[in-house]
Amino acid sequence: MTEILTPDAQGIARAAALLKIGGLVAFPTETVYGLGGDAASDAAVAGIFEAKGRPQFNPLIAHLPDAAAAWDLAVPKVEAERLAAAFWPGALTLVLPLRPDARLSKLVTAGADSVALRVPAHPVARALLAAFGGALAAPSANPSGRVSPTRAAHVLDGLSGRVDAVIDGGACEVGVESTIVDLRGAPTLLRAGGIPVEALEDALGQPLAAAVKPEGALPAPGMLSSHYAPQGQMRLDATEAAPGEVLLGFGPVAGDLTLSASGDLHEAAARLFACLHQLDAMKADRIAVAPIPETGLGRAINDRLRRAAAPR
Ligand code: TXA
Ligand code: MG
Repeated sequence: MTEILTPDAQGIARAAALLKIGGLVAFPTETVYGLGGDAASDAAVAGIFEAKGRPQFNPLIAHLPDAAAAWDLAVPKVEAERLAAAFWPGALTLVLPLRPDARLSKLVTAGADSVALRVPAHPVARALLAAFGGALAAPSANPSGRVSPTRAAHVLDGLSGRVDAVIDGGACEVGVESTIVDLRGAPTLLRAGGIPVEALEDALGQPLAAAVKPEGALPAPGMLSSHYAPQGQMRLDATEAAPGEVLLGFGPVAGDLTLSASGDLHEAAARLFACLHQLDAMKADRIAVAPIPETGLGRAINDRLRRAAAPR
């Protein structure tokens, strides 16, 4: 049975109590809902992989209350401090060398010597981290390979009965996952996300390198091509629907449903996963998607759409 908790003091206290005994609690962040577990507990973290059906070679993000707590787990460097000051709390994840003495289950990092760190901005996530008093490992709260949840109902659709509780904090404001930057060498973009690349490059004063993805050696194993997938087949950059297709519109391309009628990329990001969930609910088996500009949040949106459209 999955408890549905309210995003108030009582719900947060219950969620923290469940986490302290190794339970799994889905909670809202500004990007998507996360499936949280005690990052120091092997049993809790193993439970996250099991609930999601996620391969154990794919590491998790550690969520922290502030940068100081992040630097307890990883060695910062000047770029990390600069990006943290500019974007934390917020939709940015930094990959850094793991401290050998970090209080973290090895399952979080999949045994690697690096760790992904994020300080979320959502008030419920922050209250939960404060009440729990430690790092939370939290992947997106969806079955592995499926569309990420941006509402509590999406979490329940995928994971009901497999997790102890979900805190219902309403719809996520950003709607796409955090941007991931690897800072072990030259700053490198591992995943486009809620903080636009342009903003990161401004703060760093230098361009971000693009991740090279040699076959079989992905820098972020979760960057598998078929991911974020709805049930139907997707065709991108469509200006109209072919017979039998449901059209997901944007701006001037009016669809059966739309990411943003006014062509606003923030609105489109916030609605993206809800639209994909809705297409599943409609049992759409052929989906055409309007073109989205490749700027700002458009990069993250196009990245998720390309993966959703990838052959599986
Ligand atoms: O917005 C987000 O980032 C959400 C919320 C819940 O915080 N979380 C999220 O987690 O999207 P997940 O597990 O769905 O995606 C995390 C990505 C995966 O692609 C994983 O491979 C990568 O981060 N990752 C985790 N640790 C890493 C590491 N040490 N090095 C490289 N990539 C890593
Ligand atoms: Mg995910």
